[in-house]
Amino acid sequence: MELFTAPFSRQDFGEHFLWGVAISAFQNEGAHDADGKGRSIWDEFTAKKGKIKDGTHAQIANDFYNRYAEDIRLAKQLGFDVFRFSISWPRILPQGTGAVNPAGIAFYHRVIDACLEAGMIPYITLYHWDLPHALELKGGWCHRGVIFAFEEYVRICMQAYGDKVKNWVVMNEPFGFTSLGYMLGVHAPGKFGLSYFLPAVHHVLLAQSAGAKVIREAVKEANIGTTLSCSYIYPYSQQATDIQAAKKADALFNRLFLEPVLGMGYPVDDFPLLRRIERRYALWRDWDQLSFDFDFIGVQNYFPLVVRRNAFMPLVGISEVKPKARRVPTTALGWEISGEGLYAILKQFAAYKSIKKLIVTESGASFMDVMSEGKIDDKDRVSYFEEYLSGVLKARREGVPVEGYFAWTLTDNFEWAEGYKARFGLVHVDPETQRRTIKRSGYWFRELLHREK
Ligand code: NOJ
Repeated sequence: MELFTAPFSRQDFGEHFLWGVAISAFQNEGAHDADGKGRSIWDEFTAKKGKIKDGTHAQIANDFYNRYAEDIRLAKQLGFDVFRFSISWPRILPQGTGAVNPAGIAFYHRVIDACLEAGMIPYITLYHWDLPHALELKGGWCHRGVIFAFEEYVRICMQAYGDKVKNWVVMNEPFGFTSLGYMLGVHAPGKFGLSYFLPAVHHVLLAQSAGAKVIREAVKEANIGTTLSCSYIYPYSQQATDIQAAKKADALFNRLFLEPVLGMGYPVDDFPLLRRIERRYALWRDWDQLSFDFDFIGVQNYFPLVVRRNAFMPLVGISEVKPKARRVPTTALGWEISGEGLYAILKQFAAYKSIKKLIVTESGASFMDVMSEGKIDDKDRVSYFEEYLSGVLKARREGVPVEGYFAWTLTDNFEWAEGYKARFGLVHVDPETQRRTIKRSGYWFRELLHREK
């Protein structure tokens, strides 16, 4: 391996900066029906024809269910201090509510213990998209009952793990799973249209704060956060119509799930269509139930967006000017690479005075990795991390309270509707043998994180 280079050192980020790596249950565990686990909406979705681009499923995935100890040790070897993973709700409650599955509870005890033994701090996500199918049959996130089911699930998790684990992430990217799963229909459960999307948004927000309150009551000294997908929005031109389009897109992509949490309500002024949520739930009067005083907000940023007005686009009236048309560098998924975009969104979030702390809880890139003589020289991923981390450092130097960076992800895994073709790992996984091979980017982190000066 060539000499390590990076435009910064670990020390530049400060002694207390958290370096982590993140994974999720459905994308990694496999063991889809082992030891009493119930089915999730993703088990159902992947079983349907044509939903996953390469026709794959996640029944085995990375076999994290059996290889968790090895993977956690690997994350430690690469120099990370935090291991972020998620709990599969249907592994704990196969029917979503009611009977608890003791084998599911035991599994996450093993994972937590493996983290603690390896000297890794667990950050646990409670919901990373694998809703119990039994709940979807009753309406899923579109049914108000899901809020109470979620509270029950969170309470069970706190009773089981609250003594050992202090760092909790309530939701993973609410905008991601509601827009892709309930508006566009390209993720589980495959519903599309506003009549699904708007109630899902509202119930997710209510469940999120209800779940967070359960943690606050149950766990002493809990550090509670939630994560948001976000993209800094640039107008395509300085014309008033494009600037207005950018504001609208910002309200949808960045503010919809943030401002209600901060007690500011839905951003209806810049995105008037959201008034439909206000009208629909007027009788419930649950506006003050949407907020929670989180200890940190997790920023999950992959790309910025450039938008312009497009009167022909139904409902939104805006369209994206794709990176390809702008000839900017992208990852294999066509996502623009921009550390400046991460910097800009961190600054934007930091401007909300009620946000106490930010952690980049996901950031990473998929590239067409090539293995040659047993090695993967993913230089493009290394430059991606250099660029995005430079964005974080710049924001920190300007006083943004960003206190950690978790790379997405440890091992190549099941990338939802993309299947296994989109690879985000610092470590390659051979699907046949499950053999793990550290990529150059993994070694790069090891150098960065172990280096004293
Ligand atoms: C967001 C999601 O949280 C994660 O599950 C996904 O794999 C990455 N982004 C990459 O798309």
